[in-house]
Amino acid sequence: YHGLRKAADKKGLNFGFAVHTSFFNMSADDPYVKILKENANTLVAENIMKPVYIQPERGVFHFELADQLINFAEANDMKVRGHCLVWHQQIPYWMNDTTLSRQELLQIMKDHITTVVSRYKGRIKEWDVVNEAIDVEEEDNFRKSVWYRVIGPDYIDSAFVYAHRSDPDAILYYNDYDAEGMNEKSDAVYELASKLVKNNIPIHAIGLQSHFTVDQIDLDEIKQNIKRIGDLGLMANITELDIGIPSNDFGPQALEKQAHYYGALMQMILESENSNSFIVWGEHDGLSWIPGFTEGKKVAPLIFDSALNPKPAYYRLLEVL
Ligand code: XIL
Repeated sequence: YHGLRKAADKKGLNFGFAVHTSFFNMSADDPYVKILKENANTLVAENIMKPVYIQPERGVFHFELADQLINFAEANDMKVRGHCLVWHQQIPYWMNDTTLSRQELLQIMKDHITTVVSRYKGRIKEWDVVNEAIDVEEEDNFRKSVWYRVIGPDYIDSAFVYAHRSDPDAILYYNDYDAEGMNEKSDAVYELASKLVKNNIPIHAIGLQSHFTVDQIDLDEIKQNIKRIGDLGLMANITELDIGIPSNDFGPQALEKQAHYYGALMQMILESENSNSFIVWGEHDGLSWIPGFTEGKKVAPLIFDSALNPKPAYYRLLEVL
């Protein structure tokens, strides 16, 4: 196979993978690295740019791994997506502290965002600024994270403003899951985005995480959602795609269905006027977070198998691109 990168470059599409920590110790001719080089023009850190890794103690920043990733990307003429600045998970214990005052936590958030975004100004061209802030189980649709509880819902506005001040050219995302099609949650994301836009908050894109399962993907709804986000003047991109197969259904037929959806989603992104990015959440099935996260109920969600061989989904993307 000859790789997806060339076609992606030609179409102006950001295409690539979330990369795993183990990648940092690999040699240049490791098959994992080879796959990145042949297929990706964009990388995102699966974990190591999250606050718990970047700022494990207050004021103590660890950029070594992030620097390595960015250096690798630049050496290979690839872009890096920044993931993520404000989230309720994978934050250090000292940040996840509801006894802090509003002023103090706002300052902590500002320091974190400013330090990280400024460091990579001009090098990281887009950031997931706020991740997973919506929870439709809550009356007001906001997740009751430390950010919400201590600062209030306007922590979201502040996060975008701080990020924008630190790199005015960066594309700033609100990123969430289960909000790809038309449903209660995507309505809530849409409502939040509308408000931010109306208040001139510097938000530029909605990230559709897209942790899917074969058979549960409504392509028309996703298209409709991308379109309404576009009508707000925002980009809508696929930021964390995986398409899990129920383990009791695994087989050639399921792999074919999976390929169908990968291809159809790619087609949709290529055709959408307000989309330019298609990121798969992991390079190969052996390193996907999905089997662990679903306790084995869903498996094999990516485009290379655990032996690093391309799957039907890979070949379908090659066709569509
Ligand atoms: C996941 C990683 O893939 C795992 O390795 C980690 O243990 C937990 O986080 N939404 C996100 C991603 O925004 O950061 C998450 O990544 C998956 C769900």
